[in-house]
Amino acid sequence: MYDTKQKWFKEAKYGLFVHFGLYSILEGSYKRKVTNGLAEWIEHSFDIDPDEYAKLIDSFDPYKLDIDDLVKRAKDWGMKYVVFTSKHHEGFALFDTKYDDFNIMNSPYHKDIIKEVSDACKKYGLYFGIYYSQAQDWHDKNGLWSGKDTKDFHEYYLRKCLPQIKELLTNYGKVDLLWLDTPISMSYEECSNLYKMIKDIRPDCIISGRIGHDLGDYMTTTDNYIPRLTFNGDFEVPCTLNDTWGYSKYDKTFKSADTILKLLLKINNRGGNYLLNIGPDHLGMIPNESIAILDEVADYVNANEEAIFKTFGLPYYPYDIEWGEMTANKGHLYLHILRPKRSLDIQNIANKIKRAYIVDSKQELPFLQTMSCEGYGEIAIDIPKEYHDKKFCIALEYNEDLPIFEAIRDK
Ligand code: GLC
Repeated sequence: MYDTKQKWFKEAKYGLFVHFGLYSILEGSYKRKVTNGLAEWIEHSFDIDPDEYAKLIDSFDPYKLDIDDLVKRAKDWGMKYVVFTSKHHEGFALFDTKYDDFNIMNSPYHKDIIKEVSDACKKYGLYFGIYYSQAQDWHDKNGLWSGKDTKDFHEYYLRKCLPQIKELLTNYGKVDLLWLDTPISMSYEECSNLYKMIKDIRPDCIISGRIGHDLGDYMTTTDNYIPRLTFNGDFEVPCTLNDTWGYSKYDKTFKSADTILKLLLKINNRGGNYLLNIGPDHLGMIPNESIAILDEVADYVNANEEAIFKTFGLPYYPYDIEWGEMTANKGHLYLHILRPKRSLDIQNIANKIKRAYIVDSKQELPFLQTMSCEGYGEIAIDIPKEYHDKKFCIALEYNEDLPIFEAIRDK
């Protein structure tokens, strides 16, 4: 079973992913051609000559990027950790590195962003994660470029990948999570030696599921895919707010705050963490749409922390719920009511309910525990008037650790 052995990760439930790099300057188009694909893949999608692409370094000056503010926002949004791209597939390092000149210190911006993220995470008490693309490097003659042959990847691995990861793990103090991605054709030996090197330097640093050969400490799902049922090992779902990770001026497919909240609760219901992405623009500004959505989601998250953080995956419940979502922790089932409602009948629950209360106000709720006409456990709750049109959460308390859900009987 996937087990990070890190309590913080098991309890975190909600984190911020940040994709930022030279591609952010392009904002989804190159020479007037707009990409429909992922904005951070534009070099690959348009097969841009790497030397030509590398010239972007001279215009990399996101002077409005405010890492302190960004990390503080993550905290205000209720998130518990941040994962920031230090080098994406384009090969450009957003940190000070001795092992390649293609790095931020040689751009007009000339500041180590990863250091700033580490400092801000310490300041605001968030866990610090670094994304590093360990195999693809479209700038390097021996880095992998998916779909093309590479001459000598092992040479790249020894010269750039391992030394840069070592720098990331030693230059910024504690690193809580290393988010590796797209191992492509890396060998088992390369991946397992990388794993060993990371753990030798930082035994507590959690390694994402995409290190390769299934060596990660937790399961990373495919982007934006949620397990349909509870998955018992530690896992995380990396997700976009629109359809791209890096900023694109053209991708306006943002999900609503209601959809994002529902996805968060669904992932928590299955036992996982929601790693949700923002992509700052060429100046380093967080898109207004992203801020508006995450601010709105935060109103609910911050008022209902008890029902989100430290929750675990639920046993199988036989119905799709039309009014919201359920989460649980020891001795409590949480009913998240996400649409206007005046009363609630919740079916197929066999625990003897001791108490029901509204999570944000701790107001006690009278309830009736009976049997439905189909012969299953039923709890009927009258919703107080002031909550009829609000999104809110009801807690049901019982003696058992887990909720007991009754399956639908066949004849
Ligand atoms: C994919 C993409 C990458 C993105 C990542 C996030 O692997 O290659 O661009 O960073 O997903 O999960």
